[in-house]
Amino acid sequence: MKISPSILAANLTRLSEALSKLNSEVTDFIHLDIMDGHFVPPLTFGEQLSTAIKKETSIPLDIHLMTAQPEKEIPKYYELEPHNITFHYEAASFPIRLAQEIRSKGIKAGIALNPATPVAVLNDIYTYFDLILIMTVEPGYYGQSFLSNGMQRLSEVMNLRQRLSEKTDHLPLIEVDGGVNAENAVSLRTINVDIAVAGSFVFKAEDYNTQIEILKGNI
Ligand code: DX5
Ligand code: ZN
Repeated sequence: MKISPSILAANLTRLSEALSKLNSEVTDFIHLDIMDGHFVPPLTFGEQLSTAIKKETSIPLDIHLMTAQPEKEIPKYYELEPHNITFHYEAASFPIRLAQEIRSKGIKAGIALNPATPVAVLNDIYTYFDLILIMTVEPGYYGQSFLSNGMQRLSEVMNLRQRLSEKTDHLPLIEVDGGVNAENAVSLRTINVDIAVAGSFVFKAEDYNTQIEILKGNI
């Protein structure tokens, strides 16, 4: 399982230091939580800080847009050449068009689902996405607890992928976000989740790389 530390949970006044402590051998991605104060209550950061982060690290960026108008925000991140740009299903009127635009830039298109959104919505849009992000907390804040329906929803998505990939030959990555810790990481690895985002679990400790190795099951 790959790990994508959510930099939002680091000490934001010492971002450069936090980035330099992440070993690129064990840190697969850096997860950027872009919140606009509309789709979710908090406002975090946008393309300017993201650009500054890009200059400080060679680790691929995993962009998670929690914004009400993804169509306006997405183009701001093309220049950063991230691994993926993920926007929310609940915020997008035209998710397929947005996915096509992201892909046309050579960037993976991701779709995020809130905990209350039925997994079945993926049926009709599945093939347009390279990554599916399942939220296991309500978006907006780091440090929340993994919701009790999270594992069930992830299993549903894994089954849906299994079923649809046989028909379509398409295999998007499955990513989980919210409340990931050492305990639930065992189950996440068992059901073969591809990428786990982790904010507080990684940054609450002094040694971020050890925390990442714990989530991977290497320690
Ligand atoms: C929540 C964000 C998450 C969050 C993860 O809205 O999308 O990425 O920062 O932090 P933890 O792992 O602490 O739940
Ligand atoms: Zn996130």
